[in-house]
Amino acid sequence: MTTLLTTERLVLRLMQPGDAPALAAYRSDPEVATLQGWDLPFTLERAERFVAEVGALGWPVLDDWQQVAIELDGAMVGDIGVHRTADGQVATIGYTLARSAQGQGYATEAVGALLALLSSEGVRRVDAATDPENAASARLLLRLGFTLVGRGTSEVRGETVVDDLYVLALDGSRTQG
Ligand SMILES: CC(C)(COP(=O)(O)OP(=O)(O)OC[C@H]1O[C@@H](n2cnc3c(N)ncnc32)[C@H](O)[C@@H]1OP(=O)(O)O)[C@@H](O)C(=O)NCCC(=O)NCCS
Repeated sequence: MTTLLTTERLVLRLMQPGDAPALAAYRSDPEVATLQGWDLPFTLERAERFVAEVGALGWPVLDDWQQVAIELDGAMVGDIGVHRTADGQVATIGYTLARSAQGQGYATEAVGALLALLSSEGVRRVDAATDPENAASARLLLRLGFTLVGRGTSEVRGETVVDDLYVLALDGSRTQG
């Protein structure tokens, strides 16, 4: 198991084969998936392939997406996607929590700790895009210090949708914790 960091309540690590059922369950939950871009249903077979692929990537990876598992009491309850540019200076993040884990500060704790790790690894700016209807996501980004900088578009299940674009400038010298 590749652990990236631990927080007071959580472990952030690369995904492993046993995560597939939890991933398939929360990614298939309509309330979790509705404002996200993945196709539905998110079957167990697809989750197994996804976990095998992303779990095999090391850390850090440049010019590609990585997926970090958020573990609570030994079970994966969510994930954070991280994409870094080829020079490693700009990252884009996305995040998901299973419904049962929402509303308890876990996303703030996990994403906040990951931002500190990215900063210590030389990332200088982090971008995030969220549906303007996604109030919980907007609150999370603002709580973490992001600024709303404008609007863009993305594809959600074949449809072009409007996104709010957020940016966080990191001090590259900040250390983890
Ligand atoms: C976006 C998402 C991760 C935010 O999750 P969240 O549970 O609202 O965020 P946190 O885990 O940080 O919890 C914060 C909430 O818990 C509350 N909370 C309760 N106990 C807490 C504690 N001990 N510590 C901190 N906050 C606590 C906070 O007050 C806050 O509530 P509020 O937003 O109503 O003020 C979640 O809504 C989600 O997974 N949505 C579906 C996927 C999605 O849309 N992702 C975004 C795509 S860009």
